[in-house]
Amino acid sequence: MKKNTPGPIGVFDSGYGGLTILKDIQKRLPEYDYLYLGDNARAPYGSRSFRLVYQFTLEAVKNLFEAGCNLVILACNTASAKALRTIQQNDLPGIDANRRVLGVIRPTAEYIASTSSRHTAVLATPGTAQSKSYTIEIDKLNPAIRVTEKGCPMWVPIVENGEAANDGADWFVKKYINEALATDPEIDTFVLGCTHYPVLLPKIRQFSPQEIRIVTQGEIVADSLADYLSRHPEMDRLCTKGGETRFLTTEDSDKFDRLAAMFLQYPVSSNKISIP
Ligand code: DGL
Repeated sequence: MKKNTPGPIGVFDSGYGGLTILKDIQKRLPEYDYLYLGDNARAPYGSRSFRLVYQFTLEAVKNLFEAGCNLVILACNTASAKALRTIQQNDLPGIDANRRVLGVIRPTAEYIASTSSRHTAVLATPGTAQSKSYTIEIDKLNPAIRVTEKGCPMWVPIVENGEAANDGADWFVKKYINEALATDPEIDTFVLGCTHYPVLLPKIRQFSPQEIRIVTQGEIVADSLADYLSRHPEMDRLCTKGGETRFLTTEDSDKFDRLAAMFLQYPVSSNKISIP
């Protein structure tokens, strides 16, 4: 059997949002090497069809495999909702049965199921909300929780355009929160089920009832990855440990560096690649 060479952990997102996950993964597991890929040229994924999100995500995963990653995290809820299962079940066995692709929805659902929440609302892209992935996963683990999935189509464009801290964002933040509360007035927990949304957290907090708990995914995904690596020493051995992170983007690298530095709060120098 072919022997895989150790490489960095791949972290994939449609654009910048996955950097909010990478930041917490780096904090939790600083010794590993990471290769981040943002498909900025084809973002946003949130309102694209299943077929396209699957095709784009598979191309990105293959690219990260070719760059030497044995383990890829889909740090994008939309890609996790629309592509992960098919890639795991249909594509991976044919590509390389020793490599793995993990997502962000299952760990978040496991976390919610372990809390005392009884009315959870997942704020997400229209694509993630329509897929009902959170409802399905949480229901498998704890059917007593009522799950509302609320698509928030304007939040990603607000973040991508650097408007998250400006007054103009207020109207759309209030709109989706109020619509979720109208669907279920007993909501006790908001899950930020899109990796861009932590950038809007100050405003989401400001316009949510104080008693509602707001859950972000970064630490949950980082803890789940640490747990996965400790349970899978064969994969841990295939992940290099030099504490380095490299960045790839499918769009302009100067723009990526500027915005990524805003998300990560440290300087970033990326390389532009073409996919497929
Ligand atoms: N950040 C992605 C997510 O977590 C969505 C952004 C997009 O629409 O491309 O769903």
